[in-house]
Formats: sequence, C-alpha cells, structure tokens
Amino acid sequence: MESLQSRRTSDASRDPTSAVDAGNTVEQAIRMYAMTAQRAENNESRQPPALEVVGVSKSFGGLVVLDGLTFELERGAMTCILGPNGCGKTTLFNLITGALPPDDGEIRIRGVSVGGLPPHLISRKGVVRKFQVPGIYPELTVAENLEVPLVAGGPGNGPIRLLFGGAGAKANAERRNELLELCGLSRKFDTPVANLAHGERQRLEIAMLLARDSDLLLLDEPTAGMSAAETRAVAELVVRLRDEHGKAVLVIEHDMAFVRELGCPIIVMVRGRVIASGSYQTVSRDPAVIASYLGKAR
Ligand SMILES: Nc1ncnc2c1ncn2[C@@H]1O[C@H](COP(=O)(O)OP(=O)(O)OP(=O)(O)O)[C@@H](O)[C@H]1O
Ligand SMILES: [Mg+2]
Repeated sequence: MESLQSRRTSDASRDPTSAVDAGNTVEQAIRMYAMTAQRAENNESRQPPALEVVGVSKSFGGLVVLDGLTFELERGAMTCILGPNGCGKTTLFNLITGALPPDDGEIRIRGVSVGGLPPHLISRKGVVRKFQVPGIYPELTVAENLEVPLVAGGPGNGPIRLLFGGAGAKANAERRNELLELCGLSRKFDTPVANLAHGERQRLEIAMLLARDSDLLLLDEPTAGMSAAETRAVAELVVRLRDEHGKAVLVIEHDMAFVRELGCPIIVMVRGRVIASGSYQTVSRDPAVIASYLGKAR
C-alpha cells in the first residue's frame, strides 16, 4: 500500500488554482502548509513601530539642522536622544508633532505617514509632547489643571459636563485621582500650581499628557533644572509609564544621571545626524560620542 508520506499530492496538483506544487509528497505539502500559515500569523502579529523617522531633513535658511535622520521606536519601548545644544533635538519633535513640515524624508506613526498633517490630526494619533517649559495653568490648583485635558478630551465630555456633572464627570474624577496617584501628586490635590516645586510641576504636566489618551510620549528635557531627588522621581515615573502602561516614550535629555537611571537605548545626535546608538555603556565608550558630545557634557 502507498504510504501517506510518499503519496503524491496529485489531486491538488491537478487543480490549476492550488498553491501546492505538482509532485510534492503529502509530507512536503503539510510542511509547506504549516510554513504558509506561520508566515501569515507572523505578518498579522508584526505591528508597525510606534514611530519611524526615515531620512528626515530640515534646514532653516542655509542652516542644515536635520540631515537625513533615521531611527525607529518600537511600541511600548523607550529611547533617549542625547546631543549637544542646537543639534536639532527640539526641531525633531517639531517635525514629529507637525509644528513644522520636514523638507525631506518620512515620519510614520504606527505605520501611517504623518508628513504634512496638521498638529491636531497628529495629536489624534496618540502623540503627546512635553515642552522644555511646562505647559500648565499657574493660577489653577493641581486637580483643576488635570481636569482641563480630561474634560476637553474625553468622549462625551465637554464644558456642559464640567458645569453640570453626570456620568462623565464621575469617570473624569476617578481618572484624575488615578493620574495624581501615578504621578505622586495626590497630596497636592488642592495646591495652587504656583506653590509647587519645580519637579512637581514637571510631573503634573506629564499627568496632563496622560489624561489625553496617548501611545507615544515625546518628552523634551523633562528634568531640566531639577534636583537629584526630583530627577530620580521623574525617571521612575517615566519607566513605569513604559512598563506598566505600555507607552512608547522618546526622551530628549542632557542629564547623564537621568539617562543612566532610565537604562534605555540611546541615540546620540550631532549636527542633525545619528552618530551612535545603543546602551548607555556602549555609547558612553564610543570615541565619536566622547569627542563630539560627552567630552563637553561631562
Ligand atoms: N523655527 C526656526 N527658525 C529658524 N531656526 C531655527 C528654528 N528652530 C530651530 N532653529 C535653529 O535650529 C538649530 C537647532 O535647534 P533645536 O532647538 O532643534 O536644537 P536642540 O538640539 O533642541 O538644542 P537645545 O539642546 O539647546 O535645546 C538651532 O541653531 C536653532 O537656532
Ligand atoms: Mg531643545
């Protein structure tokens, strides 16, 4: 009797629409079928990165600020961008958020090209940005500041709910309290923002970014001017956002203590180009990095 392994897949091969080649044994056909199924599964599970920056360039007049910059950030991952003053870090954030258009190259958010889209449409793709100077309302309390994005941004929310309450108001109050807890600000609930320490203001702004449903956080020097303890608190918060809340985080930072604390991959940019990337240990030993950046930063 003909064995299963050796029998030709002659029936399938007679069908001109069959994917199975004529002359295969059943064993080969099974292997091919399994490989095709696996490939389809891999394609389905392979999601585009949170952010892709591909050959992006930007000049102001004759000044080339970004020069074919290329890197990507996976979903739920964190990368830190280091580089000397004026090397184009904030300009990169301006391009990612649509504040400025790139001259050349492509920026993709979860696989979708966003080049040329206005900032409000890019923001709807879950991109939020923390500026070098915190964007908070100094005359309001901590809780009131947080209510601004919650009320303005949530589905079914709006000024009417803010004024008259309802289910949306209850959900917002719960979310507000969660975010205050996450950012270590619960005890500052009623404190006017003018009375907060510098590090607390920065954490409040991060809480306000989280209040808008976001997948990709862009943080521009979140620890500028902070004490060592405040810097550590922000580092812990940012790591939790990645590990416990699945956020992709791109951080611009000069503070080497903070960068070490984050323990994430680093991209070193000089004159609008990536000159090195890898772990803190790798880039801090890189001769090009020492010559053009760390030599001055340390
Ligand atoms: N809108 C603009 N128009 C003209 N020049 C600009 C503009 N934005 C940035 N620049 C210039 O581009 C260069 C890069 O600026 P950018 O703010 O991106 O640097 P950076 O790496 O963020 O520096 P820092 O570490 O000081 O924050 C600087 O020379 C700056 O003056
Ligand atoms: Mg900057």
